[in-house]
Amino acid sequence: MLELGQIEGLDRVLVLPQVGSTNDYASQVLDQRPEDWGAFNLIATDTQTRGRGRLDRIWLAPAGKNLALSFLIRPLFSTQTLPLEGYHWLGSLAALALADSLGRMGVAASLKWPNDLLIGQKKLAGILTQLLPEKEGGYALVVGLGLNVNLEAAELPVEGATSLLLATGRPHELGALAGEIASSFAAYYRAFEAAGWNPQTPLDLDGRQASLLERLESQTSTLGRRVTLHLPGGQQVQGVAEGLTPGGELELRADSGEIRAYRVGDLVHLRPAES
Ligand code: BTN
Repeated sequence: MLELGQIEGLDRVLVLPQVGSTNDYASQVLDQRPEDWGAFNLIATDTQTRGRGRLDRIWLAPAGKNLALSFLIRPLFSTQTLPLEGYHWLGSLAALALADSLGRMGVAASLKWPNDLLIGQKKLAGILTQLLPEKEGGYALVVGLGLNVNLEAAELPVEGATSLLLATGRPHELGALAGEIASSFAAYYRAFEAAGWNPQTPLDLDGRQASLLERLESQTSTLGRRVTLHLPGGQQVQGVAEGLTPGGELELRADSGEIRAYRVGDLVHLRPAES
């Protein structure tokens, strides 16, 4: 079982020896006993048996080797209202916080739009965010982060995945890593809150006066690449990822020349030979 001590900036940390899905668990506890949870909480395990991924996929991980972290976030505790259309930024904050934590360990990771973490072109971590209704109105958000930590090559769940063990050549202590990621995310959350939830206001965080949007632009390796975007209805668009809109949508110049911004979709980075 994970060992997590007190983590700065978190209202509550719950470690589970095993659970189906930490995101589902967060939804249940909020429904049953909302009074037990503050503004920024973590439910964590190293053994998730029915992990869920984006777009109704499953998220697989062998027992005891990976981190499954669900941050149960309740913006209703904030004095400034976070409008519903701003909730998606919290997934981006988690991705940036994770990239920062990895950077401090000497691991260079980039973001693949919207919130995947890559090492080179291989996926190290994914994030699934879900809105949860609050009894007294408004919404909480669960930001579920799955990080491949101590997986050997033969244990990778899918082709195109990697792990910290494979990237660094050494195993990592899961509890310490979870604590580092959680305090980094909490610091990002508080800084974004202090910035009035404005993605264009500099975040008072690490001495860099860069806004959330600027940080995303500089760390998203999708930008400037040829990509295929698979849209929810089954259609797909191929083109060049030109940038992010002020709302965080991906701006794509399709091969037809049309430029459009997309909020959701499953993105594939194309290698030059595929373009
Ligand atoms: C993706 O498809 O890339 C997102 C994967 C998200 C997995 C994490 S693991 C912790 C949390 N609990 C879940 O059931 N899913 C998320």
